[in-house]
Amino acid sequence: MEMRIPLSAPDISEADIDAVVNVLRTPRLSIGPRMAEFEEAVAEAAGVPHGVSVSSGTAGLHLGLCALGIGEGDEVILPSFTFIAAGNAVLYQRATPVFADIDSISLNLDPRRIEEKITPRTRAIIVVHTFGHPADLDPIMEIARKHNLAVIEDACEAIGAQYRGRSVGGIGDVGVFGFYPNKPITTGEGGMVVTRDARLAETMRALRNQGRRAGDSWLEHSVLGYNYRLSEINCALGLEQMKRLDAILEAREAVARRYAAALQTIPEVLVPPLKIEGGRSCWFVFVIHLAARFTRADRDYIYEQLNARGIGCGRYFAPLHLQPLFAEYAGSRDELAVTEQVADRTLALPFFNRLTDDQISEVCTTLGAAAGRRGDVLARSSGVDRR
Ligand SMILES: Cc1ncc(COP(=O)(O)O)c(C=O)c1O
Repeated sequence: MEMRIPLSAPDISEADIDAVVNVLRTPRLSIGPRMAEFEEAVAEAAGVPHGVSVSSGTAGLHLGLCALGIGEGDEVILPSFTFIAAGNAVLYQRATPVFADIDSISLNLDPRRIEEKITPRTRAIIVVHTFGHPADLDPIMEIARKHNLAVIEDACEAIGAQYRGRSVGGIGDVGVFGFYPNKPITTGEGGMVVTRDARLAETMRALRNQGRRAGDSWLEHSVLGYNYRLSEINCALGLEQMKRLDAILEAREAVARRYAAALQTIPEVLVPPLKIEGGRSCWFVFVIHLAARFTRADRDYIYEQLNARGIGCGRYFAPLHLQPLFAEYAGSRDELAVTEQVADRTLALPFFNRLTDDQISEVCTTLGAAAGRRGDVLARSSGVDRR
């Protein structure tokens, strides 16, 4: 159903359109100058020398695992509270996903819950910067070093985010960005893997291009590869968007602040942290938590009420360990208690650069009324005041 106020909306400028059209006026629609420039721009933003553009964020996660040599019998630690892509990439390699719990405020992997998941088979940790908020990487990198594990940053939602003065994506062994239309920077479809390691970059370039190593001709294939290339058309759009990265991040932060101010008066709703010590969020989405007494049914009621009024929202995330695909890796659910509690009570509100004050006000009024009605029902059934 088309929403009056959508959950997300791409921010496409006239310069973006011109950049795409200009590529279409050339004979070079793939593997050309825009790809090289886009890779350079994203790598620079991540503070590392190498960028490898790919057809999606999922493809980037897959290439990262491949290039790091993760395969059958290996275990990879990752959050369950995330998008399906990271879990799928682990399965593509016939490796075993091992889910670790998250912190209830940052919604990122809780570093204190990682070491208990390490076994002699553990090879890597996928750290997700959830909803654009930087994960607590210092302790995670320390654990990884201690146990000789690779770190893949799933920064698909977090381009431009900062952790203790460093750009996310450039801190682990490899970092992956995503450029789907709901992302702060979009290429329509697309992704980028970044790394400090020249050898990993070279391997990933071969893997994304049907296994052709540097110097191989079009019909020479040194290794088993994939077609994960990103066209010049997509790269031109991404490159033009990257020129506005700072302005886009500022616009998103301003929307987050306006939401937080507008939601202050709704006691049933908790907003995400606005300030990050020494860091910066890229505000991929604005996800609120309902107060602890609310259940998943309450959240779903509110979701439906908003949808019925043409307001797009998202139940982010549905934990991976509860998906049928990952049932055999669910482990003990007590160990993912925070993940399950959070997933039942979170709701992503409409969030995009050009969201107006009137739209924010309408979303918050509708949300407040629905949450209030549900809170009253809960109060009547338990005999306590809802506040
Ligand atoms: C955290 C996270 N990882 C990976 C992906 C996968 O990216 P793509 O859709 O480009 O494959 C997404 C979303 O799209 C995401 O939100």
